[in-house]
Amino acid sequence: MSKNNNDKKTNPQQTKPDGSKPWGGRFTESTDAFVEEFTASVAFDQRMYAQDIAGSQAHARMLAKIKVLTANECDAIVSALDDIRTEIEAGEFEWRVDLEDVHMNIESRLVAKIGDPGKKLHTGRSRNDQVATDIRLYLREQMEFIDAELQRMQHAILSVAEKEADTLMPGFTHLQVAQVITVGHHLMAWFEMLTRDRGRLADCKKRVNVMPLGSAALAGTPFPLDRDFVAKQLGFDSITKNSLDAVSDRDFAIEFCSFASVLLMHLSRMSEELVLWASQQFEFIELPDRFCTGSSIMPQKKNPDVPELVRGKSGRVFGNLMSLLTLMKSQVLAYNKDNQEDKEPLFDTIDAVMGSVRVYADMIPHIVFKSDNLAQAANKGYATATDLADYLVAKGVAFRDAHEIVGRAVRLAIDEDKELPQLSIQQYQSISEVVSEDVYPVLQTRGSAESKQVTGGTCPKQVRLQIKAARDKIV
Ligand code: ARG
Repeated sequence: MSKNNNDKKTNPQQTKPDGSKPWGGRFTESTDAFVEEFTASVAFDQRMYAQDIAGSQAHARMLAKIKVLTANECDAIVSALDDIRTEIEAGEFEWRVDLEDVHMNIESRLVAKIGDPGKKLHTGRSRNDQVATDIRLYLREQMEFIDAELQRMQHAILSVAEKEADTLMPGFTHLQVAQVITVGHHLMAWFEMLTRDRGRLADCKKRVNVMPLGSAALAGTPFPLDRDFVAKQLGFDSITKNSLDAVSDRDFAIEFCSFASVLLMHLSRMSEELVLWASQQFEFIELPDRFCTGSSIMPQKKNPDVPELVRGKSGRVFGNLMSLLTLMKSQVLAYNKDNQEDKEPLFDTIDAVMGSVRVYADMIPHIVFKSDNLAQAANKGYATATDLADYLVAKGVAFRDAHEIVGRAVRLAIDEDKELPQLSIQQYQSISEVVSEDVYPVLQTRGSAESKQVTGGTCPKQVRLQIKAARDKIV
């Protein structure tokens, strides 16, 4: 036998089994001190204390209903659990690593408080179905908070889009000036992304809000549990249909992280635009000072930290999705301790999403759009070239020929260092005889934007219709 400084701990002859563990009966030696630390989840799963208590109270009431507990025992459990919640919220609860996780910490405190009735609570239940239930309850609540913040962000976008419905700006493809658009139209594109994100969140909720409790360790239980009664108390829409699946399924968490990844991908796109727009090269917007920070060395700096950080958060959110997928890959049925590793990526994702959406909902209404700079930028880069082609088409020129003609006009303008409205009528007519004086309004950025009246187009009237429809629909 090898001699090491852990011998004292690991040698059965020299140590007594640790009576503190709810599962300690079959063990002849105490858990290795580092293994205890290594296997514990209480440091991070204690954030589910309210859900753990609510789940236990619902389970106790059901056990009383099916006469496994007396009414008095049930009352004692329910009210002691209320007291434990108060202790936790007052910061008076002693979280013990030797009790491994939130479930055993709370249960052991319950037994310490009320004795025997407390020991009956775990009848027909396992930590496997308990933890699966707690995560779903916790996630369900957080999803509601997230949705409320997304809604707030959408309202913020709508208010700015309305204010800037007439503000012209260049629209880009390949980050090259493409056509004239309005700021309101651009912001409504963000709005649409968030609408789909909220749809994904709502869809995910259908699969989150299903109750695993009653599956016990993996096989179900001989006790005639009234699972629907428990589900109703906890606000679950339905109960799981297969106990093996129920204790081991973490798809719902993966789905949430996938929703979160798409959302953060969207937020990172918005962030990138804000960072660009706030730069000296664009000067499209001014971010409020209170959402920016300075540099410790360069006194002139005002950095767009908020959008940069939101953009950066996408990295950890995508990573968390990969963590969970990899965690679940190849796991045999049913519960494996691997599953304990689900919590940190999930919680971290929740925090990143909440923080990012909250800060954007707060900041967006205060972004100042510099309409003069935006209008000037829309005047550069031949943004009305397509309008000129459309004008030629209206005069009977085939679109491909029109494209060619306008290409030559743009070439001429580049050579003369002019914008399209600055070319003379003679110059236009030298390229195409169908052009007449009525071309000039077409070359104006305002007229260009106004002309895009198709549903979903950039015309301010259209954008206002979109905003109104969104306001009527947004919940
Ligand atoms: N802390 C555990 C987890 O998060 C709870 C379930 C433990 N179950 C077990 N059989 N060890 O997954």
